[in-house]
Parts: sequence; structure tokens; C-alpha cells
Amino acid sequence: MAFPRQRMRRLRQSEPLRQMVRETRLTPADLIYPLFVVEGRDHRQEIASMPGQYRRSIDLLVKEATEVKWLGIPAVILFGIPDQRDERGSSGYDSNGIVQRAVRALKDQVPDLLIITDVCIDEYTTHGHCGLVRDGRILNDDTLDCLRAMARTHVQAGADMVAPSDMMDGRVGAIRDELDRAGFSDVPIMAYAAKFASCFYAPFREATESAPKFGDRQTYQMDPANAREALREIELDVEEGADIVMVKPALPYLDVIAAARARTNLPVAAYQVSGEYSMIKAAARVGWLDETRAMMESLLSIKRAGADLILTYFAQDAARVLNGRRV
Ligand code: PBG
Repeated sequence: MAFPRQRMRRLRQSEPLRQMVRETRLTPADLIYPLFVVEGRDHRQEIASMPGQYRRSIDLLVKEATEVKWLGIPAVILFGIPDQRDERGSSGYDSNGIVQRAVRALKDQVPDLLIITDVCIDEYTTHGHCGLVRDGRILNDDTLDCLRAMARTHVQAGADMVAPSDMMDGRVGAIRDELDRAGFSDVPIMAYAAKFASCFYAPFREATESAPKFGDRQTYQMDPANAREALREIELDVEEGADIVMVKPALPYLDVIAAARARTNLPVAAYQVSGEYSMIKAAARVGWLDETRAMMESLLSIKRAGADLILTYFAQDAARVLNGRRV
């Protein structure tokens, strides 16, 4: 007979008790902060659909990175917004491209902050797709050459880790080979392994002006209905040499995060994407949600589901809360 001998409320009576039996804890060290970099100097422009997030020129990016490091966040992930786009996304693998220069400046001025780069051509192509296009089709194997060159130039510039987000088949292996050949066998790969074709990327695409100009991404990103397929994607990326596997988006895919955690002993990352951030921001703006509590609860849920690392636009605000300060 459980009740009244068993009373679940006994351990909920006070904050010290609740703290003692708390199963999941967040720390700033769990977080990775995404940053957007543009050409120019002394330039900072807020992204309309992502309040509190900015496109920054390299000089202001360095300032921001200093603050990120100071908050105890170990890493940032960089997204470039170039001036020049073409069919092949070549400004993305130019050794003097926007991300390559940003990486050099950051490693020079904030050397202890880990710099991860997003490897994908969509921000650099005129058509906005993550692969090369021929006759309206997205080419898989031809795209791998672009991804190899992009990852290599990022690492040559000083990137500590690369994160391919394109969802072409075989790209983790191709990038691993390329980095090993170029003498970078110690540089890890964080694979966007289970990346779903999600509507929640919309604010990001506005931020980077990278919405596809025709069609959609359903021939390479995953069907939101498929969890077993997500595990196959993860297994393949592990076989190809991934060091960290990622599930993206996060909150609508907590089951996938939990399944990934159960299946692999690699670190699992989850990306709380732009739309997840913007939803909370928008609801808070009209007074329907408490922003700080919604932020902390969603991050905690992602960690509880099994993520070791969380990529989130809330990284700075959450770190401030975790460090005992008000946002
Ligand atoms: C592709 C990429 C995207 C995001 C990260 N890398 C966009 C896409 O696949 O359409 C989305 C991140 C977010 O929504 O926060 N380079």
C-alpha cells in the first residue's frame, strides 16, 4: 500500500530539499552560442525575427566573444553572411571569406574560446540550397568537394571544430579524410546528424538571407515523422568519424534526443533553433510567458532528455541566470 506511507511531497517541501534530489543540472559549460558575422566595421544590426540577436562585423564579434568567454560559455558556433554569392557558394570556401577572417580574429584575440564553424554552402549560394544544383536537383557527391574545402579553410584559419549542417550523404567521412590529409587529424567534427526539415528554422533563414529560392529542403533534411531513420543517420555519422552527434531542432524532438542518448556513447548535442527561441521571445513580449522561466525550463528539458551540449541563442542569458545574476 503506497499512500500514506509513500508521500512524494515530502521531498518537495523546501528549496534545499528540492536541490538535493534534483536530477538534472544545467551549467554554462553545457552551452554553445551561435553568432552571425557580416562584412563591415563597427556594424551591428538586430535580427527582426530574433530579438536580442545581431549580425555583427568582425570587430564587434570579437567584443561579444570576450563577454561570452567571461560568462563561462566554452564555445561559439559561427555563421557567415557574405557579400558575394554564386551558384557554387565559393565565397564560403575562400580562405579570405567572412568566416575564415572572423575565425582568425577570434583566435587571435579570444584564444581560449572554442570556435566551431557551421559547414554548409546555403548562406553562400544564390539559390539558397545546401547542395549544388543541376536541373533543379540537389547534387550529393559534387557538393562534397565544396564541403571539404570549406571545412579545411575554416580549420586552416584556426577553427577548433567543424559542424557540417548540409545533410548530404557521406559528408562526415569526406570532411574527416580532408582534415586528416591536411594534417588536422586532431580537429573534431560535430555532425548535424539528425537534422529535420523543420519550419522552426524560418527566423534563421531571415537572419542569413538563406531561404531556398525554389523548392524546399525535404530531399536532404529529414522527415519530421521519422525517429528510427534519425538513429540510422546517427549511426552512419558515427561510422564516418563524427566525434559529437547533434539532433536539431531540440524541443519538438526530445524523443529523438533520448533515443540518441540511449544508442550512442558519443556526446549528444541538441540545437534549440531560431524558431524555438523566437516563440519564447514573442510570447514573453505580449506577456503570455515569463521569458526567463520559459528559457530555463526548455533548456533543462533538453538536457534531461539526454543532450550533453545545447546550441542556443539563449546561451548568454541562461549563463547569467546560472551565474546568479538577473538577465
Ligand atoms: C544551414 C543551417 C540552418 C540552420 C543552421 N544551419 C538552416 C537550414 O537548414 O535551413 C538553422 C539554425 C536555426 O534555425 O537556428 N546552414
